[in-house]
Amino acid sequence: MDTAFAQRMNAMKPSSIREMLKMTERPDVISFAGGLPAPELFPVENIRAAAERVLGECGARAFQYGVSEGIAPLREQIAAEMSCRRVACAADDILITTGSQQALDLLGKVFIDACDVILTETPTYMAAIQAFQCFQADFRPVATDELGVIPEAVDELAAEGRARFLYVIPNFQNPTGRTLSLERRRQLAEIAAHRNLLIVEDDPYGRLRYRGEHLPPIKSFDESGRVIYLSTFSKTVAPGFRTGWIVASGPMRDKLVIAKQAADLHTSSFDQLVLDRYLRDFDNRQHVERVCAAYGERYAVMDEALRRHMPEGFSWTRPEGGMFLWVSGPPTMNAMAVLAEALAAGVAFVPGADFFPRGGGENHMRLNFSNAGSEVIRDGIARLAAICARVAGN
Ligand SMILES: Cc1ncc(COP(=O)(O)O)c(C=O)c1O
Repeated sequence: MDTAFAQRMNAMKPSSIREMLKMTERPDVISFAGGLPAPELFPVENIRAAAERVLGECGARAFQYGVSEGIAPLREQIAAEMSCRRVACAADDILITTGSQQALDLLGKVFIDACDVILTETPTYMAAIQAFQCFQADFRPVATDELGVIPEAVDELAAEGRARFLYVIPNFQNPTGRTLSLERRRQLAEIAAHRNLLIVEDDPYGRLRYRGEHLPPIKSFDESGRVIYLSTFSKTVAPGFRTGWIVASGPMRDKLVIAKQAADLHTSSFDQLVLDRYLRDFDNRQHVERVCAAYGERYAVMDEALRRHMPEGFSWTRPEGGMFLWVSGPPTMNAMAVLAEALAAGVAFVPGADFFPRGGGENHMRLNFSNAGSEVIRDGIARLAAICARVAGN
């Protein structure tokens, strides 16, 4: 059958690694590939109690259609949480989304026309590239170092006046694990105001800090209303709720609500009610502390195993939170070749190239440390390092 697809699908390439990574579903494969939180830490019993209360108190109402913005009590709780993150906002400035991934799609719908310029860190979150590609974005990767995206480089590109927005992940970035410095957060907010540049600040990992001090979001320095902030309960409660939020106000919020209506009317009423009840009845801060303690330990185990086993010529980031670290091999190394051998040896990771919207990055690997226990991490890194030594030595 000859099927005609929309032009936008031409830009959306199938992932070259997806087939390979299907192997990670095999129980004998140690996977550092996914971005999965640790399921044994999900607060299942407390969620069960919250769900039972919602069913008892709301009955059929828990399953009725609702408003696109999301249920008011949950938005109020999120607004209070945002003030703890030093962002002053009201419940009206919160739009509940079906995960942050939907927020990225809605932002694409609201802001990106074909060939519009989008600035991103180098590298950046693979599924954001995919979401914006759907709207035929023209990606301009911005120079980035160990302190995050470089403000002078943003300013230079913003001065051209063609960028629709800068997309940035300030904390424990996916894929590198790096954190944007405090000074750069301030500078980016200034550039946004000065250059009339919109910034999309995507912060799913900020609460997962296991070392050092929390840094205020770029949004906290935003006096001109040009920063749109996104976050999610995926990493602090559980991703299956598919519940996240956008902080935006005025006409930007209104357009996003229209896009949300068109996309799915609203996020699941039942999920929102259960989350709201759970957050009121239980101490989720304590839960997040437990998650941070576990991830901090797993990170330390992975870092130690890398130090012990990795051959010369390899370096990696030392994140203070989140779920990923980023390994860089010698410039001649091809992570796809490493992956083919690693899968045969029962270890998976994501090769770096997929995080670069305009190519490059072949000598990098993203490793997830949140999903496996210590022994498994040690075993997996020993196997991976042996392959790196062989492949990089060729
Ligand atoms: C940077 C970033 N943004 C957005 C998301 C999507 O999160 P959610 O589960 O809330 O859709 C992820 C998920 O891993 C992510 O790493």
